[in-house]
Amino acid sequence: MSAVVESKRISVPEIMAHKNAKPVVCLTCYHAHTARLLDEHVDLMLVGDSLGMVIHGMENTLGVTLEMMILHTQAVMRGSKRALVVLDMPFGSYEESPQVAFRNASRAIRETGCQAVKLEGGARMAETMHYLTQRGIPVMGHIGLTPQRIQIFGGFKTQGRTEAEWPAIEADALAVAEAGAFAVVLEGMAEPLAAKITGQIAIPTIGIGASPKCDGQILVMEDMLGLNPHPPKFVRQYGSMGADIEAAVKAYAAEVRARTFPGKENVYTMKKAG
Ligand code: KIV
Repeated sequence: MSAVVESKRISVPEIMAHKNAKPVVCLTCYHAHTARLLDEHVDLMLVGDSLGMVIHGMENTLGVTLEMMILHTQAVMRGSKRALVVLDMPFGSYEESPQVAFRNASRAIRETGCQAVKLEGGARMAETMHYLTQRGIPVMGHIGLTPQRIQIFGGFKTQGRTEAEWPAIEADALAVAEAGAFAVVLEGMAEPLAAKITGQIAIPTIGIGASPKCDGQILVMEDMLGLNPHPPKFVRQYGSMGADIEAAVKAYAAEVRARTFPGKENVYTMKKAG
């Protein structure tokens, strides 16, 4: 008998079984405490490379390293026990060759215990996705607005606005599905195109700034909680944590500042009076 407790986490086949059955609820997550809070309520947590911007204040995701992704994924794994956890492969860790991608993805899985990785790119990354899935690494695809190509797009621009752009994006979706990916993120994509792709491929599509007709949805948790002062336009706010934190810190600071020391005047009170 094995001494190891069997994992109770949602599995890759269970996520795939959502297709045409029930929506897949996904959020990004980067820390242990929030992982604990999300765990009961979401099917999939993505440790996205958006953490470069959201947690580390970077301008874009290009400076994120594999070490950063591993560290944050370890925290999310420690904080959760139910949701499927996916690590987002950062820029430069998988594009060079399928072999480099396998080396880095297998390290990420070994060092974190997460169940899958995500790669940006459609047809151009299909060979790599196939190489990984054939060797036991579950892969989530990501097409449409892929932030690691921001320099090529010239900004965060919605993809597929004109029908002339559609065939290439549809080909990306098919290539990702045929390469063995278990799901694909459709980001920043014109709604009718995202809906069309959802009907065309056999794996769940997970929309972000795409279409409610996708098989599931993902948002950056900090955006939907109101922690980002400049969230993308498409994000609905489900909380006001930025304002809540500010109010709490203000109350705390006022309380500490009001303290007096025996025989001394309170400098803050003096300042106010002056
Ligand atoms: O890095 C990230 O948070 C992502 C999601 C936006 C899908 O890739």
